[in-house]
Amino acid sequence: MGIQKNIAILPGDGIGPEVMAQGLKTLKAIEDKFGHNFKTKEAMIGGIAIDKTGNPLPEETLEISLDADAVLLGAIGSPKYADPTLKVRPEQGLLGLRKALGLYANIRPVKAYDKLIGLSPIKNERIQGADFVIYRELTGGIYFGESGRNKDNSEAFDTMFYKKNEIKRIAHAAFKTAMNRRKELCLVDKANVLESSRFWRETVDEISKEYPQVELYHLYVDNAAMQLILNPKRFDVILTANLFGDILSDEASVIAGSLGLLPSASIGKRRCLFEPVHGSFPEGAGKDIANPAAMILSVAMMFEHFDMLQEARTIHAAIETCMEKSVMTTDLNPEVAYSCSQFGDIVESLILGEELNLKSLKESSYSII
Ligand code: IPM
Ligand code: MN
Repeated sequence: MGIQKNIAILPGDGIGPEVMAQGLKTLKAIEDKFGHNFKTKEAMIGGIAIDKTGNPLPEETLEISLDADAVLLGAIGSPKYADPTLKVRPEQGLLGLRKALGLYANIRPVKAYDKLIGLSPIKNERIQGADFVIYRELTGGIYFGESGRNKDNSEAFDTMFYKKNEIKRIAHAAFKTAMNRRKELCLVDKANVLESSRFWRETVDEISKEYPQVELYHLYVDNAAMQLILNPKRFDVILTANLFGDILSDEASVIAGSLGLLPSASIGKRRCLFEPVHGSFPEGAGKDIANPAAMILSVAMMFEHFDMLQEARTIHAAIETCMEKSVMTTDLNPEVAYSCSQFGDIVESLILGEELNLKSLKESSYSII
């Protein structure tokens, strides 16, 4: 008997719908191969939702997301609403959804694919074998603290605010993952300056007593930003606050070769959401050139979360085969670029075990024998 799941599909803005279409092909292929039954419901979020309803997170989208076993999200952000002084902005949709679903732990794995290390601007020997995961706190900190301006608009402030419980729950999640990996955990903060960081250290130090096998160490965020490039192999599990995690995960994408390769999982007590780390890349929208790997790998993370490990492994194997056979989109290999939809078709075929006759976009379209 196959497994049933209800999945909310939020394609969002820019390249979101294009990468989501490939994510859906992957979902369908897994459904067919393993005999599962996935019901999908699509809803609007971000700029497109503002266009249609005036609200970046319409009530219906929230309801569909709250009802689902998992949410898949494409990307959010639109040049039309890029002016940061606007009252209603696409990003509010994503932040509101994360908060409403209680998605406090954002998990961003980073690894250097052997086939891609030559493409990185970082010296190959530094990144070969790098494989770590960032645990970013997602529903607190400076993203959600009090903010504002004074009356004559000569002052502005944001507040980095954390409750002990907000730190504890993500710390437990990170320690549990560390137990299944190299048993090392690096807490990244700015405890030499910020009180909230000293609070993180104190709290995480306390929790570490429950995980005596895990070696906990601390790095200041400025130093961590440098170490990530100098010696990424030293990292295994990184635990950090919302803003620091946002910045470090974009930086870490240079190690993987492209932001188009990084998936993420956002987990709460009862709900979960899976989305690529990359943004909406409006310049690439509608051109069928985006890299859908991050979206497809986010689908794999969903299966891991459901404990459907064989399904997740099947997707990872398909992506690895793509890399080995140089099936890559233009961000990774402009010489023999495959289109976004071709990449999705090839992943689908690999999952279903069909034979491939690979021809890149530049040669003519590929065909399945
Ligand atoms: C991310 C994005 C978001 C964030 C934006 C779009 C609000 O950069 O998911 O990393 O800052 O969290
Ligand atoms: Mn970001």
